[in-house]
Amino acid sequence: MKLFLDTANLQEIKQAAAWGVIDGVTTNPTLVAKEGGDFPSRLAQICEFIKGPVSAEVLATDTSGMIAEARTLAAIAPQVVIKIPMTAAGLQAVTALKEEGIRCNVTLIFSFNQALLAAKAGASYISPFLGRLDDLGHDGVQLVSNICEVFRHYNFATEVIAASIRHPLHVLQVAQAGAHIATLPFSVLEKMFNHPLTEQGIERFLADWQKVR
Ligand code: G3P
Repeated sequence: MKLFLDTANLQEIKQAAAWGVIDGVTTNPTLVAKEGGDFPSRLAQICEFIKGPVSAEVLATDTSGMIAEARTLAAIAPQVVIKIPMTAAGLQAVTALKEEGIRCNVTLIFSFNQALLAAKAGASYISPFLGRLDDLGHDGVQLVSNICEVFRHYNFATEVIAASIRHPLHVLQVAQAGAHIATLPFSVLEKMFNHPLTEQGIERFLADWQKVR
C-alpha cells in the first residue's frame, strides 16, 4: 500500500520525504488556505520534494472552468494530479482531461455509486472520505472495502485513495480493505512510528549497557 501525506505544509512534506515513507501528497483548498501564500508556487515547491503524485484541487464548479484550471495546474509539474469534485460537471471534466493525458483524482466520494461513476469516467484516483462518514455515524471503512472489492472484481485501473483518515487504526483498516493508497495528516503519520514497548525497550537496553561499563 502506498502512503501519501495530506498537507500543503512544506516542513511536514520535507520531513516525511526525509523519513523515506511517503509516495505522494494530496492537498485540498482548506489545507492550502491554512498555509497562505500563492498556490501555484507552493505546488511547484512541493513537487521539488515529492516525485510521486501530488494532487491539487480546482475551485471552479463548471466543466470548462475546471478544465482551464486543471491545464494551468498540470503544467506546473508532470506529477501533478488534478483533484476534481464528484459532480456531473466534474466527471465531464475528468473525461475531457483524460483525453489530454491529464490525470484526475475525483474527491468528496461518499458512496459506492459515486466511486463507480468516477471510475467509469476515467479517474486515475478516487478519494472516499472515510473520517467524515464516521463523523455522521456511518462506516467509512466499509465504504472503502466495498469500493475496493468491486474494483478488483472488474479489474478497474482506478486507484482508491482512502482519505479523511483520523487515526492510525484507520490505516490498518483501509489496508485490510485493499485501498491502494492511504493519505494521512502529518499527525497520524507521526503516531504510526510510536509504540511504548519500543521506547521502553530502548531505555532498558541503554540502562543495561550502562550497568556493565
Ligand atoms: O484531503 C481530503 C481529506 O483527507 C480531508 O480530510 O480530515 O478534512 O475530513 P478531513
